[in-house]
Amino acid sequence: MQNHPHRPESTRADFTIDQNWDAHTAEEHAIWATLFKRQQQILKGRAAQEFLDGIDILNVSSDGVPDFRRLNDILGARTGWQIVAVPGLVPDDIFFDHLANRRFPSTCFIRTAEQLDYIQEPDVFHDVFGHVPLLVNPVFADYMQAYGKGGVKAMQLGALHNLSRLYWYTVEFGLIRTPDGLRIYGAGIVSSQGESVFSLESSAPNRIGFDLMRIMRTRYRIDDFQESYFVIDSYEQLFEATRPDFTGYYETLKSLPEVEAGEIQPEDTVLNRGTGRTRPAA
Ligand code: PHE
Ligand code: FE
Repeated sequence: MQNHPHRPESTRADFTIDQNWDAHTAEEHAIWATLFKRQQQILKGRAAQEFLDGIDILNVSSDGVPDFRRLNDILGARTGWQIVAVPGLVPDDIFFDHLANRRFPSTCFIRTAEQLDYIQEPDVFHDVFGHVPLLVNPVFADYMQAYGKGGVKAMQLGALHNLSRLYWYTVEFGLIRTPDGLRIYGAGIVSSQGESVFSLESSAPNRIGFDLMRIMRTRYRIDDFQESYFVIDSYEQLFEATRPDFTGYYETLKSLPEVEAGEIQPEDTVLNRGTGRTRPAA
């Protein structure tokens, strides 16, 4: 998250713009369709049921880039959330204020055909396909709002680096344990063809039971698949664990060492100890 050097004339003070859905070209809709169909195949039996339910309820499909007005009617009726269009990453305080008011900032542009497999910055496929379906889930919807309020506080307490890791390892790269096995709920995974398979099936990464303080100490990689994934048992667990005031937690964290992305700690609940990414096959 960083400031934008170029703020288009039409950007409002809260950084929102119009989606301008009618301006999307056939080519852009076709890129959405390609991405959607790929993920629909891969995510069967891999994505969390709550995510798949969200896709169905919102009628997100291979038809093309969804019209935010249509999604907002459904989302608003379900959980009171709204999607607001933004030109790209917005400043932290703006981002948190949106979340705290049940507004999810989403980009409008879509990646190019050359960027199908990897794009560094979020686009509308990541934001809408990845993030919005779980906002239909009441508990997750509340968690996201609480996170926004927590963000404002973390900024004041100089603890944003700790809180950002929580977002990273849950909202973006979270796994959930179900009776049928591990499933994906993180937006960064469900919107990525490669990581959807890697996160669940590769022997390289660690898969570790959710632990709030442990996560807030753990560094992360933004340029490659994750070296560790954290596994929740339910969205209720996530919401309850993050309900307390974090002020004291942040104080404690100052005296605890940071943990590297691929490291295992003695007190971890290890579901899978990763073999690591760099080890060559024997
Ligand atoms: N309870 C946290 C605080 O006091 C806020 C929060 C809620 C943070 C949910 C993350 C997720 O800071
Ligand atoms: Fe994201």
